[in-house]
Amino acid sequence: MNLLDIQTQTIDAVKISASFIQQAFGKISNQDIKTKSLNSLVTYVDKETEQQLVVRLKEIVPDVAFLTEEGTIIQTENDWQWIIDPLDGTTNFIHGVPVFGISVALAYKNEIKIGVVYEPVRDDCFYAVKDNGAFRNGMPIQVSKTTKLQDSLIATGFPYYDYSQTDKYLDFLKYLMQHTRGVRRLGAAAIDLCYTACGIFDGFFEYSLSPWDVAAGSLIVQEAGGIVCDFNGGNNFLFGKSIIASNTNIQKEFYNAMKDYL
Ligand code: IPD
Ligand code: CA
Ligand code: CA
Repeated sequence: MNLLDIQTQTIDAVKISASFIQQAFGKISNQDIKTKSLNSLVTYVDKETEQQLVVRLKEIVPDVAFLTEEGTIIQTENDWQWIIDPLDGTTNFIHGVPVFGISVALAYKNEIKIGVVYEPVRDDCFYAVKDNGAFRNGMPIQVSKTTKLQDSLIATGFPYYDYSQTDKYLDFLKYLMQHTRGVRRLGAAAIDLCYTACGIFDGFFEYSLSPWDVAAGSLIVQEAGGIVCDFNGGNNFLFGKSIIASNTNIQKEFYNAMKDYL
């Protein structure tokens, strides 16, 4: 497989599919909103975009398995797998907050080889191929050079359905409020990771995420020179439901602080 060729075609497929999201933005009514589970919303836009992506990605590489948030296609066994979030930031999209994107990754034996994250509203595209660096709209990107947590801007996602660790989470949030420049909650984990990759954020953490939230963004952070791990310091951030990502300079301080709470 020529991963660089596949990446180029994937970016094209993602951008074409994103035009459907873009034209529907601002036109969602209450009847369009379905609740999958507590605070987990979906619209026809998520589903239709996913179907379009599956059709287009199948044309790029045939016989690759799919893991998709909206379950368009039955999961099959294959070492190669597309991991898709057709609309990351659905709650933002529904409420008219212009922060959402498409996240597509190609994995081999659960190792991410290609990651593409595209924000249609700002026509902003982040992408990476394993061992080939990370890019934003054609320009190489790198994580920030910040050396202290005190000088860092940290992103997170608030727990919104698994409240089992809320108290510990809030204690850590309080610590971060008092020991960083600030904390942001954009509402789209894939974008949080890309903003960490290009140095807007110095770090990001969240628990209870799914593989499609983090697959593409985690590779983009790593290829931009950052470190990504799960809350136990291991590599199970794809399926392990916890992720902490940052530049290398603050990683130890950020991770150790998190471990005091979570
Ligand atoms: C959500 C967003 C959000 C994060 C949630 C995700 P969705 O994805 O990434 O920022 O906090 O955990 O589920 O549902 O909008 O695709
Ligand atoms: Ca998501
Ligand atoms: Ca989604």
